[in-house]
Amino acid sequence: MGLRTFHLKSFVITVILFLVKKLETVQVSPCQGDCERVMCPTSCDCTNRTVDCHGRNLTYIPRIPCGISYLNLSNSNIIKLSIDETNNLTCSFETLTHLSLRDCKITLFDDDVFRNLTQLEVLDLSFNNIVSHAESYLHSLARSLGSLNRAPLRTLKLDHLLIQDGVNGIFKYFEGRNLTHLSMRENQIIQFEDKDLENFTKLIHLDLHSNWINKINLSSGIQTLKLFNLSHNQINIFPPNFCDTKTGKTRYKNLTNLDLSWNQIILPYSPNWNCLIALETLNLSKNNMEDITGNYSFANLTSLKSLILSEMHSTMRKIRSYALQSDSLKYLDLSGNGLNFEDYKEVADNIFDRLPQLTSLDVSYNDFASVGVQKLTVLSNLEKLIMRGVYLRQLPNDFFGHFPNLTYLDLSRNKIENFSVEAFQGLTKLEVLNISDNLVSNFPAPPFPEDTLKSLKKFDFAYNYFQCDCDLLELQDWINRVLSDPSKTHVFSRFPDDYWCYTPHSLYRMPLKDVKPADCSINKNQLVLIVLCVVSSVSVCLVFTVFLVASYIYRWEIKFLLHKMRQTRRDGYHPLTYTFEYNTYLAYAEKDSAWVIHDLLKELEEFNYYAYIRDRNSVPGVARCDEIVDNIYKSKTVILVLSKNFMACQWCTYQLNVAQARAVKLGPHFLIPVLLEGIDSKDMKKSVQHLFRTSKPIEWARQSTKNRLFWSELKTALDAEINHDFEETGYQSRDCGYASLT
Ligand SMILES: *[C@@H]1O[C@H](CO)[C@@H](O)[C@H](O)[C@H]1NC(C)=O
Ligand SMILES: *[C@@H]1O[C@H](CO)[C@@H](O)[C@H](O)[C@H]1NC(C)=O
Ligand SMILES: *[C@@H]1O[C@H](CO)[C@@H](O)[C@H](O)[C@H]1NC(C)=O
Ligand SMILES: *[C@@H]1O[C@H](CO)[C@@H](O)[C@H](O)[C@H]1NC(C)=O
Ligand SMILES: *[C@@H]1O[C@H](CO)[C@@H](O)[C@H](O)[C@H]1NC(C)=O
Ligand SMILES: *[C@@H]1O[C@H](CO)[C@@H](O)[C@H](O)[C@H]1NC(C)=O
Ligand SMILES: *[C@@H]1O[C@H](CO)[C@@H](O)[C@H](O)[C@H]1NC(C)=O
Ligand SMILES: *[C@@H]1O[C@H](CO)[C@@H](O)[C@H](O)[C@H]1NC(C)=O
Ligand SMILES: *[C@@H]1O[C@H](CO)[C@@H](O)[C@H](O)[C@H]1NC(C)=O
Ligand SMILES: *[C@@H]1O[C@H](CO)[C@@H](O)[C@H](O)[C@H]1NC(C)=O
Ligand SMILES: *[C@@H]1O[C@H](CO)[C@@H](O)[C@H](O)[C@H]1NC(C)=O
Ligand SMILES: *[C@@H]1O[C@H](CO)[C@@H](O)[C@H](O)[C@H]1NC(C)=O
Repeated sequence: MGLRTFHLKSFVITVILFLVKKLETVQVSPCQGDCERVMCPTSCDCTNRTVDCHGRNLTYIPRIPCGISYLNLSNSNIIKLSIDETNNLTCSFETLTHLSLRDCKITLFDDDVFRNLTQLEVLDLSFNNIVSHAESYLHSLARSLGSLNRAPLRTLKLDHLLIQDGVNGIFKYFEGRNLTHLSMRENQIIQFEDKDLENFTKLIHLDLHSNWINKINLSSGIQTLKLFNLSHNQINIFPPNFCDTKTGKTRYKNLTNLDLSWNQIILPYSPNWNCLIALETLNLSKNNMEDITGNYSFANLTSLKSLILSEMHSTMRKIRSYALQSDSLKYLDLSGNGLNFEDYKEVADNIFDRLPQLTSLDVSYNDFASVGVQKLTVLSNLEKLIMRGVYLRQLPNDFFGHFPNLTYLDLSRNKIENFSVEAFQGLTKLEVLNISDNLVSNFPAPPFPEDTLKSLKKFDFAYNYFQCDCDLLELQDWINRVLSDPSKTHVFSRFPDDYWCYTPHSLYRMPLKDVKPADCSINKNQLVLIVLCVVSSVSVCLVFTVFLVASYIYRWEIKFLLHKMRQTRRDGYHPLTYTFEYNTYLAYAEKDSAWVIHDLLKELEEFNYYAYIRDRNSVPGVARCDEIVDNIYKSKTVILVLSKNFMACQWCTYQLNVAQARAVKLGPHFLIPVLLEGIDSKDMKKSVQHLFRTSKPIEWARQSTKNRLFWSELKTALDAEINHDFEETGYQSRDCGYASLT
């Protein structure tokens, strides 16, 4: 009996449990009727609540099972989005929150097409083919957006739809009550009025970059907006006016991030922005500003932390004394303006004087020459300093001591030739140090004090002009010592791959790690021998010296004779085709080699031109004449470095003559004359005078601001010729006697 009631009880309980279970499943999944049978579409991937059909070239929206939240249909071929199409979403009408119809080639929408998607939060319609000039197509888009009014839409992406008109046509029916993110980048909007978005009362992000905006009216304000991206537009002369002209107040009270980069603003008229009290980041890079006008242009932006004033298309001429003053600024970017920091007329002496919070500064690609760095010394709070490509030639010993809190220092791409350990004295927090791409031949070992090494995490000194002589042993020693410390095994960036010898010639491009400088230890016997030799050979020396002097005086004659001898032997060798090995051949006087190697060659290599340079590329043992002809013929252009030295150098004239002969075939643009200094016309040889008549030389100016012009003209000349494909049929004569050596 007891057993039976127990069985009954447990049966009842089981039934109840089953019913409860059944009830639960019904509540969790609204799948009913037809929807229960809908499976994952064959061409899509279904995981969890996501259906991903991107890139399957679907021409329709497939039937979607129930309970789906995310649907990705990007890269399909839907063409026309009709109500029938969206009816295939029926089973997930109540759950779909994210829908991507990006790049679906849609041209036309049915009016009410999104009406049943009542839970949609994110919609991407970018990259479709709305024909914006056809009224009806735009209207169909506006109507379909209007059908979203029942959905709590937060994010709407309408990028790259070739929308031309203002935005008001598109949002005629859409209320956007819950919209926080709106993106309409890469359209062709010319005019923007914020009044058109007045009903989007929750908008936080507005992205209008890469449009054609040049008329802009911001008088209504978007109170909630935090990020406004207007970069890559055509806003010209003045920045857009965010401040009420009468009251000086703004309706953009919450704007923290404003991007105005890549426009054509010439006059940074600060009253248009200095009401933006919440602004933290202001990007004005890549505009056409000539001057940061007026004092305190940013002083009223009391929340400003980050200011970007970089790369003003080389228009920037001047920064005035208190133009940058700000009590809140932490990060300042002045890179790529080509300003001469040495010249107080270009960069006022005290531009950094009133920046008490500044901890991060980028001044790359300006010109600091030798004393420009003094202007930085007031910035004692600096933690990050970036000075790439600022033409630094030395590191003053007492300089970095001004920044005891420095953790990041980038000095790459400068012209530093040497420095001493003291240069980095006092930097006890430094973590990253970059001196790569300089001209240092002898690194002190150790290069910085022990304290600095302790904190250091990354040290990059690749691509310097390492001189692999006996002094190098000390540096190698030091490197090995540091690497043996387990905590420092990764401290050298790009080591050992990008560390090679530069001199002597015989070790050029040898890895620094492996190179063993020639015999550096002198033992006793050798010493005795040397002393003996010295004593006994004074007389021999004298004779030898006389011989050397004589051969120096008559060197041209000797060279010419030698060449003539070889010439007769190798006559008749006429290769017919040649491919170009070099972008350019550098013809210069030995005495100008410092400039050629440190400035010209470095700059060319930085921009990936491959230049032939005698000192480096010449093959030992090949006679000069042949080599000159050969390599001029293997080069697409010849850069002639004209100077007083050039005029006085006979090999230079020879090279000029060969190049001029070559130019007869390839056209005058083959020759790119560069004028290093003024030359008296009476000192000019006939061939040079001829050169001056046929092509205008590019003039080098010691004054750094003009250098920009020089490099740009030079590169233009090079590119014009390098990209010009002329027929190369080889040359018939390599007669070295062609040029008169007188
Ligand atoms: C699916 O959901 C589970 C549990 O919610 C989660 O751990 C997993 O990462 C999800 N898978 C995908 C592909 O989203
Ligand atoms: C979709 O079309 C593109 C271009 O026609 C093609 O490259 C791609 O392979 C197609 N994808 C599929 C999944 O068929
Ligand atoms: C709905 O999806 C099915 C397959 O999933 C497809 O055959 C049908 O053409 C779709 N309907 C429309 C109107 O595109
Ligand atoms: C859709 O798929 C593409 C390609 O994988 C991806 O880039 C995109 O982020 C996806 N979109 C959504 C909304 O998941
Ligand atoms: C919305 O859904 C209902 C019921 O499923 C359907 O009758 C109606 O046509 C749909 N409307 C639109 C605009 O898709
Ligand atoms: C917008 O969000 C509010 C809550 O912030 C909500 O009450 C309202 O229903 C939402 N609007 C729509 C159209 O869903
Ligand atoms: C904003 O909403 C109001 C009331 O619904 C309407 O009259 C007005 O035209 C809307 N503004 C815009 C720009 O759509
Ligand atoms: C900007 O728009 C407001 C309101 O729409 C209008 O009153 C004002 O005249 C406009 N300003 C300019 C300069 O067009
Ligand atoms: C501005 O931002 C703050 C903090 O994010 C927020 O609390 C406040 O509501 C916003 N004000 C407006 C007008 O949106
Ligand atoms: C504005 O858009 C550009 C282009 O995509 C982007 O590089 C930039 O980061 C954006 N600015 C902000 C503040 O998001
Ligand atoms: C900064 O604001 C003050 C007070 O609002 C005003 O007097 C001053 O002219 C403003 N400065 C600039 C440079 O606009
Ligand atoms: C360096 O940083 C410390 C705290 O990190 C700070 O107290 C000190 O004032 C800073 N020194 C300088 C010179 O800014």
